[in-house]
Amino acid sequence: MTDTNPIEALASLETEALAAIARASEASALESVRITFLGRSEGRISAILRGLGGLSPEERPLVGQHANRVKNAVSEALEARAAELAGGVAAGSLDLTLPGRRPWQGGLHPITQAVDEIWHIFRELGFSRSRGPEADTEWYNFVALNTPLDHPAADEQDTLYLVDSVLLRSHTSPVQMRTMEKYPPPIRVLAPGWVYRRDTYDATHTPAFMQIEGLVIDEGVSFVDFKATLEEFARRYWGPDTTVRFRPSFFPFTEPSAEVDVKRVITRPDGRQEETDWLEIMGAGMVDPNVIANAGLDPERYTGWAFGMGPGRIAMLKHGVDDLRTFFENDVRFLGQFAS
Ligand code: DAH
Repeated sequence: MTDTNPIEALASLETEALAAIARASEASALESVRITFLGRSEGRISAILRGLGGLSPEERPLVGQHANRVKNAVSEALEARAAELAGGVAAGSLDLTLPGRRPWQGGLHPITQAVDEIWHIFRELGFSRSRGPEADTEWYNFVALNTPLDHPAADEQDTLYLVDSVLLRSHTSPVQMRTMEKYPPPIRVLAPGWVYRRDTYDATHTPAFMQIEGLVIDEGVSFVDFKATLEEFARRYWGPDTTVRFRPSFFPFTEPSAEVDVKRVITRPDGRQEETDWLEIMGAGMVDPNVIANAGLDPERYTGWAFGMGPGRIAMLKHGVDDLRTFFENDVRFLGQFAS
């Protein structure tokens, strides 16, 4: 030890160290301050701690205590200054020319986007939105919809039963019945949701998929309203040059029934306009009087029309995706391309 009083020496070391820390304007300067005072071999405060052994037994505890306090104070000041510098507060350490870091942002799934786009159009046409349970009874899924359980459409092969007479709904049509039971006409409702079938998993089928049910019930609703509304929807969704075709079909819950196809006009990259092939977009029809009666409404007074649409197919077409499964594999690199 030198002959200076070690306690005074510690006090002035502390003052000196704190001043040097405050002056350090970047991480490397701060590091050399740390080495000067606290470095294991050369550090000036470390040296005092190491010299404790040479002090008299009376002096040792007192100087030791002081030395530790100063060491801790300087360590804390170093840490605080380092945090300050890392925050870019000190002059010169903030580079305003660096590009910002984008926070990770989620996006809507392409099928959800299609549902929302379709929904926006029907909302403008006066529809409200509703939903029904994904697990439903045979009554709502089949029988009330004029589909006897021995009808091929009710075949157990196509349907995932949970317990006796309760199943995962195979279409969104049960929402028709639930809506008519709950709300008095006039009814104009859109009901998107998941449906389930015992289907083979392939490029155009998945055992769980989205459907959008539409239902209109009122006095004096005719086939003209049905056609005109769906044509209006198609032109708003795919463009004013879209043509719509109604092909006769059969569904147990509509009479007459139709399959609705659209033909779009697309503009090719070279600017030429081109008509697409017919694309089937939905099953539809005038609601069968039996269905209206099953819901407790008078089919002599009320008529209506309904449709069931597959937004998954519509999203595939829109984005030029040829395998429906890619929408459900949850590969963010794939789905991220469609994030809006
Ligand atoms: N539920 C039918 C299906 O899943 C689709 C459908 C057809 C719904 C005609 C309707 C309709 O509302 O009128 O295949």
